[in-house]
Amino acid sequence: MEHSRAELAVRARGVEMAFGETRALRGIDLDVPTGTVLGLLGPNGAGKTTAVRVLSTLLRPTAGEVEVAGIDVLREPAKVRERIGLIGQAAAVDEMLTGLENLTMFGRLHGMRKAAAKGRARELLTRFDLDDAADRIAKEYSGGMRRRLDIAAGIVVRPSVLFLDEPTTGLDPSSRLAVWEIVRELVADGTTVLLTTQYLDEADQLANDIVVIDHGTVIAHGTSDELKGQVGGGRVTITVEHAAQLDLLTGVVRAVAGAEPVVTAGELRVTAPFEGGARHLPELVRAIDDAGITLAGLELRPPTLDDVFVHLTGRSTEDADQEQGA
Ligand SMILES: Nc1ncnc2c1ncn2[C@@H]1O[C@H](COP(=O)(O)OP(=O)(O)OP(=O)(O)O)[C@@H](O)[C@H]1O
Ligand SMILES: [Mg+2]
Repeated sequence: MEHSRAELAVRARGVEMAFGETRALRGIDLDVPTGTVLGLLGPNGAGKTTAVRVLSTLLRPTAGEVEVAGIDVLREPAKVRERIGLIGQAAAVDEMLTGLENLTMFGRLHGMRKAAAKGRARELLTRFDLDDAADRIAKEYSGGMRRRLDIAAGIVVRPSVLFLDEPTTGLDPSSRLAVWEIVRELVADGTTVLLTTQYLDEADQLANDIVVIDHGTVIAHGTSDELKGQVGGGRVTITVEHAAQLDLLTGVVRAVAGAEPVVTAGELRVTAPFEGGARHLPELVRAIDDAGITLAGLELRPPTLDDVFVHLTGRSTEDADQEQGA
């Protein structure tokens, strides 16, 4: 959908960022309509953090234009800073201060009076289920508590645009759900959110629009359904017992599915589009059996955003991790 400039909380055009030889961003366009969530998705090293740092005034891009909340980021960074919140991968809270002290300090830094800052801090601690931890130092918080405190710190002064850089990386499932709930509440309150993630399901859950970046370039954008639609029908994933049979399996799957499979050698796994659906599974199983391959597992499922990534880049997000030496 096309949006007028006034409806966009974030508008970036042709953003480039080079660190010496490294071209972290190679001309990125982004639109985030006010009141929506944009998921910026990409593997390690794709350029997500760099993009967030440019949009939130921390880095001056090598080229391009950026407007946040209708203000030019390059010309009026201070004005932009008044309207945004940023929760980075490395948190800004002080480990040796308590939760209450941290949040109060953030309010004071933003010019709130002491009583008002403390009141807001208490309100956020309650809202993020941190009342019991209010008087403990942040250093003693669990990962999930810590992340909730980070986010609270980023919204002490209510931002109109919030940048969240990998808000749930490293969290256990229940803490992830708690963060998702916080993001949903913020959006319901009218905050525009740009979040980066390596988790495709997270973008699926939270984002209205998704932009997939890889090597500093936008390789796809659309809603989750639009992106999945690009991949087509179902997906079949087959694992074998013996590594020696992986090539053979790949050949069989290629022949039956009529498409080039993606092989994840480390996990003895082959994945391929499977347009025919469940009706054609017996045919596949017979062909595998006829070839004398010992199956370890077989699964047929609708396309996921992971499939979108593989479809677009020809490799899985795990491979992308390995590429970066992560
Ligand atoms: N300050 C810097 N100096 C030099 N190179 C940098 C700097 N920051 C980022 N890079 C490089 O830019 C590229 C993009 O990095 P960036 O941190 O934006 O990726 P990312 O998508 O956030 O990855 P991750 O998922 O690991 O956080 C990488 O090749 C990285 O090494
Ligand atoms: Mg990053």
